[in-house]
Amino acid sequence: MKLCLGIESTAHTFGVGIVSFKGKILANAKSQFTTTTGGMIPTDVAKHHDVVKARVLAEALEEAKVSMKDISVIAYAELPLVPINHSVAHLSIGDLICKAKDPIYLYVSGPNTQVIGFAGGRFRIFGETLDIGLGNMLDKFAREAGLGFPGGPKIEQFAKGTYVELPYAVKGMDVSFSGMLTKAVGLLKKGTPLGDLCFSLQETAFAMLAEVVERALAHTEKKEVVLIGGVAANKRLCKMLDDMCRARKMKFCAVPLEYSGDQGVMVAYQGILQFTNGERVAPEKVDIHPYERIDEVEVSWK
Ligand code: ATP
Ligand code: FE2
Repeated sequence: MKLCLGIESTAHTFGVGIVSFKGKILANAKSQFTTTTGGMIPTDVAKHHDVVKARVLAEALEEAKVSMKDISVIAYAELPLVPINHSVAHLSIGDLICKAKDPIYLYVSGPNTQVIGFAGGRFRIFGETLDIGLGNMLDKFAREAGLGFPGGPKIEQFAKGTYVELPYAVKGMDVSFSGMLTKAVGLLKKGTPLGDLCFSLQETAFAMLAEVVERALAHTEKKEVVLIGGVAANKRLCKMLDDMCRARKMKFCAVPLEYSGDQGVMVAYQGILQFTNGERVAPEKVDIHPYERIDEVEVSWK
């Protein structure tokens, strides 16, 4: 059985995934940097990754019951390397887990909020945030409220109360979250209950996204929605999108928590897709493009 090892380390999570070339997931080991108060500081995150990397790799190999000599692709030095785009990897693992063929993807992570579909040989962004990503908006509000990082799960937990009006900002196919963040932080300082604000942030932001996804379905005539990225873990967001899809008799799939946020499995799987389509680079030619957008990626595997 040919195996690919994927390493995720671009943000808060150090993860190692092992996937067979037939798409069987053998291991998903990870360690996430967290805080109880305050946000993530890059040097602390780097230290975290350095401390946990050997343990996470050992855990992945143990979980898969293999050793480094059973791995045929990715892994540093002698083996072939396949550079992948992190966002594209989030989408591809969504296809695998949801058995989706040609969905509209709602990709909601810390920095990213995009409505994406495959059209004319590329991933196209039909709508996106004009300012901050959904996850970052939730994280920033949580930080102001002293809830620690990551803030999204805490907000979900506290989201119970009365609706407080916040700016509903849909502009064409795009959305904006900074206005509601400013308003909510202001109300928090004036003593509005935390539960009301968490509830209202979720209701407003998620309704905006459901509206844009619904319009993307109508424009493209695609029949399924895949929800991906760390915020896909949110039950309320899933419920709203599921209701919208049911009303239109469309398929909805939220990628389960284990594979929705950052992990090494998506990196390994994306590596396999590209490797089997002839992509690889020599280790000394490896280059990093932190600002590469999803619509700039050459797609060899679809
Ligand atoms: P990118 O993939 O765009 O580089 P990232 O890797 O930083 O971003 P992910 O790991 O996909 O992001 O997602 C992290 C985000 O998910 C954080 O902002 C976190 O607060 C949010 N999140 C996690 N669980 C929940 C939840 N239950 N509800 C809302 N948000 C959540
Ligand atoms: Fe990510």
